[in-house]
Parts: sequence; structure tokens; C-alpha cells
Amino acid sequence: MSETSILIVDDSLAMRRGLRQCINLPSAQLTEAVDGQEALELAAIRNFDLIITDIDMPRMNGIQLCKSLKTNPATKAVPVIMVSSFDSDEDIDRGFQAGASAYLIKNEARSSLMTTIQDVLPKVEFRGKRLILVVDDSLVIRRMVEDGLVQAGFRVLTAENGKKALEILQTTRPDFILSDIDMPEMDGFSFCQAVQANPDLVIIPFVVMSANSDRGHMMRMLRRGAAAYITKPFNLDQLVIMVEKILSDQFQLLMKDRERLEADRRMLLATITSLVSALEARDAYTRGHSEAVATILSGMASLMGATELEIETLTIGGRLHDIGKIGIRDSVLLKPGHLTDEEFAIIKQHPTIGANILRSVPSLAEVITVALHHHERFDGKGYPEGLAGQNISLWARITAVADTYHALTSDRPYRKGFMPDKAFQVLRDVRGSQLCPDCVDLFFKWITTQPGSSPTSS
Ligand SMILES: [Fe+2]
Repeated sequence: MSETSILIVDDSLAMRRGLRQCINLPSAQLTEAVDGQEALELAAIRNFDLIITDIDMPRMNGIQLCKSLKTNPATKAVPVIMVSSFDSDEDIDRGFQAGASAYLIKNEARSSLMTTIQDVLPKVEFRGKRLILVVDDSLVIRRMVEDGLVQAGFRVLTAENGKKALEILQTTRPDFILSDIDMPEMDGFSFCQAVQANPDLVIIPFVVMSANSDRGHMMRMLRRGAAAYITKPFNLDQLVIMVEKILSDQFQLLMKDRERLEADRRMLLATITSLVSALEARDAYTRGHSEAVATILSGMASLMGATELEIETLTIGGRLHDIGKIGIRDSVLLKPGHLTDEEFAIIKQHPTIGANILRSVPSLAEVITVALHHHERFDGKGYPEGLAGQNISLWARITAVADTYHALTSDRPYRKGFMPDKAFQVLRDVRGSQLCPDCVDLFFKWITTQPGSSPTSS
């Protein structure tokens, strides 16, 4: 989380200092006010993420402060924690009615303030990121629901019927839809049906709000895919709690899904390692080649400013770029010395074989191009498709440079590996013909970051 700005309001200096000491947030920026009036003035000119206030103060007390904050559109989403020595149920109730998010008795502050802050802040952050589409033909209902949800910290869009809502959905993707049923032009049934029929929209929780509490009516909506049904008139607090519950359940499901994907990815990486080991066990001369190419690629990609995910994917691509050699028979793959035209034609099949192997694994779709196109040449004279220039994917062009450099510097049955300087010269010679010039430049930029490597300029 970026810096969290917290306003502490109390007429007692000792209490303000005490509250400061209870707040153990490294990113917190703490400001103090001596009463509600000063706090309100500060909140009008600065954005606070949280206000912690006493109740009993001169000029303006904490209840009046909270009510004023909650009636101002600019400050109504700021959560308020009340910390007071008033400890009766009526006092606590008064605090919540004024709009407080939490209420602590002063002598609980030391033990509970931090957990309360940690409970209140993520909720606010969670809500602030969630966009809710409210669809109702009644302006009064739209305003009321919008006010309630905005006050609770959500972002809200409104539409007066299903047709208008569908127009909004063409360009905007809310996290939640709250819709009336009886509306002109397009009613809630048809709107819900249209949402459920669209694969991009079907995952958005759809909740119906209707004055019709008939069981059959409710069941009909739920059968059409609505996540819940709330009957009018409803209490706004109930509505907010329901929206938050459904969103947080959905969030939990997404997190579980992410964990499952992560486990799948780990399994996939283990499978890749085995595949590469199987390939390299057959061919001693390329042993370690895939890993070395992957390392170069990861360095080049991070110099380009690629994201962590892109770097990881390209590294996998590097490990797998020659995986198609698994399908090349030993007599050709392991043959020392020069290959006949016929044998070379067989070797040239390895990009296509590799791409076909990777096509069967959906999560490897992005690296197919690395396996398929790493022998394409920038001048169009490569294989298997004879692509040229930018028609070859950037990842494949980068891989071609890393692959060429590592192949040149590795020992082969028929020759010893080049010293780096000689390999650098070859890369310069084929810059723009065999290899993409920008990718060669990127390679030289990367190699200068490597210890002990300083290619001399030609
Ligand atoms: Fe290759």
C-alpha cells in the first residue's frame, strides 16, 4: 500500500500521543487535530485515508464531525474510527449511526486499534476498487442506492433500464450489477438474460432488487443466473453487506483459482525440465544449451523493461526452443561432421515438431513462436516459413540472437567453440541479414552487464 494518511482527532495531547504510539504502520503519515472543527477544516483541504476521533471535544464533538464528513460527497468515503471513553450501548450505537466504521473504548485502543485499522483500511481499499452498476427506472431508487454504496466506499454507475445498462456494458466492465425487474424498454429478465448470454459478462454477479416478493418470481430470476434477490423496500446497510459478501466470496474464488493456476504452472515447469533433460540426455553437445539460452533471454528481456511474467515466459521459451529435436532421429541429430542436404532437411523440421508439441499445452501458447521461429532469418532466408523482419515475432528474433551466440561459443563435434570476441564479430557480421539489428544491439547491451565481458566495438 502507498502512504496511508491518518488524521488523529482528540482534545487531549496525551491521548493523541498515545494513539500515535499504537499505530504501527511504516507507511503511515499521521496528522493531529485538537477537535472536530479543526479536523473538518483539515479534511476539506487534504485527503485522509482514515480519521480516528474522540467523541467528547470542545467546539465540535466526534459525532458531529462524523456526520459532517459523511454528508460531504468529498469526504463521505473516508472511514472513521471512534475512540471514546463513552462505553454504553447507546453511545456505541450513536457512533455507528453517525457513520463510524468502528468504535473502540479508550482503554481498548492499545490492544485493538491496529487490528481495527487493518480491518477497516483493506475494506475501504477493496470497496474503492469495485464498480457497481445500478439499474432502476426510478430516479429516487437510483439516487438512494448510489448514495448508500458511494458512502460505503464503492464506485457506482447508474442506468435507467436494461437497454441503457447494456450500452454501458459495451465499454465498461463493472464488478457487480444491481438491477430492478420492472423497467420500460428492457426489463430485468431480458437484461439478466442478455448478461448471462455474454461470456465476458456472465461472471459479473447479478443481483435483483424488486418490490415483487413472490417466490415464483424470485426463483425465475435465480434460474436465469441472478446471484441473489433483494426485496424492496430494503435497508441500505443490508444491501451494502450483501454486495460486500458476494464480492468477497467471488474474490476468494478468484484467489483459489489463481492458486490452482500457480500449482499448474509449477507442475508445467517440472514437466518442461524433464522434457529438456530427456532431449539433452540424448545429445551431449547441446547439454546446457537450452538453459544458457534461457539465461541470456531473461537478461535481455529485463533490459528491455519486460514485465516479470514476460521474462518468465520468455525464459520458458528459451528452455524449450529446441524441444522439437526430440523428434529427430539419432543418426541425424547426433551425426558428427557435416550433414547431407537430406539430413539437413530433417533437422529443419525441429521448429515445426517443437511447435506441435507445445500446441498441446494451452498455457504454453505464448512460447510457440519461440520454438517455431527461432531459425527464421531477418532477411527472410530462414526456416520453416521464410518470414522476414518484423513478421518474425520479437521473442523469436531475440531468441535467434541468444541461440546463435551460445551455439558459436559452444564446442561441437566438428569444431571447437569460438572465443567470445570471435563470436561477437560474427554477430556484427550477420546483424541485419541473419539477425534482427535491434536484437543484436540489445544483446551487446546485455553482454556488457556480464562480469568479465567487454565486447570491443568494430
Ligand atoms: Fe534450433
